[in-house]
Order: sequence, then C-alpha cells, then structure tokens
Amino acid sequence: MTNHLIKLKDISDERGSLITIENLKEIPFEVRRVYYLYNLTADKARGFHAHKKLKQLFICVHGSCKVLLDDGISKKEYHLTNPNQAVLCDSLVWREMFDFSNDCVFLVLADQFFDEEDYIRDYAQFLEFQKGEIS
Ligand code: TYD
Repeated sequence: MTNHLIKLKDISDERGSLITIENLKEIPFEVRRVYYLYNLTADKARGFHAHKKLKQLFICVHGSCKVLLDDGISKKEYHLTNPNQAVLCDSLVWREMFDFSNDCVFLVLADQFFDEEDYIRDYAQFLEFQKGEIS
C-alpha cells in the first residue's frame, strides 16, 4: 500500500505553532464536512468500515492514536503522535482507529456530506467492492 502519511507544515515561533490546511493544496480534495472524535479510550476501537466515494483526512490534533488502513491487498499502520501528521484515507479503504490516548482529539476532514449509504460496514462486502464485483 502506498504511504498515506502527509507531513503538514508547522509554522512555529515563540508564541506557539500553527498548521494550515487549504483545499486542493495540502490535501487533494475540497472539504465539505469536518468532525472530531473525543472522549476516546484505548480499549474501544472505532472505524471498521470503508466508504464507496468519501475521501478523508485524519489528524490527531491532541494526544495520540493508531490508524490502520487496508486497501484489500495490503495493510499499513500509522502511529499519530503529532498534529503535523495527517493520514489521507481514500475511498474504498478499510480503516480502524485504536489505542487512543485519553486526551486524544481526532479530527476528520471529509469531501462529502454525511451519507450512511456510502458506508461499507461488512469486510467481505468491502473486498467485493475492491475487486469490482459490486459497484
Ligand atoms: P462512524 O462513522 O461509524 O464512526 P467511526 O468511524 O468513528 O467509528 O459514525 C458513528 C455514528 O455517527 C454513526 O451512527 C453515524 C453517525 N455520524 C453522523 O451522523 N454524521 C457524521 O458526519 C458521522 C461521521 C457519523
């Protein structure tokens, strides 16, 4: 699987740090939706689905966690410990998020509005979509 980790530019000075994300510059899509996960715990993993069309960017803006991406052929795990790390999650990529620190705030930028119909929550069905057996 290709590397989906993007290193965002930190603009830091004696007052602190700033990171900016602009449509089609740092990320290859236009943002239509932003959401964030918090009150997370290490023993409760999330995700376990793919999307038919949706593209997303994951950033652990505070704390740490792990993200597993699986394109149906290979898997890659990312340990997010710094807000300058962003993981690009393309459509038809199975994702699992886990090992959240108690202070983790997990930010997601997405290119589509929420649509439950876009979810693939069954792993066997995800593999069928990947092989083009379902579209
Ligand atoms: P889900 O995407 O399954 O969360 P995660 O991938 O983090 O485990 O979403 C959890 C619930 O929240 C599910 O019932 C759908 C709902 N939801 C919305 O209503 N709007 C949204 O933008 C998102 C992301 C989820």
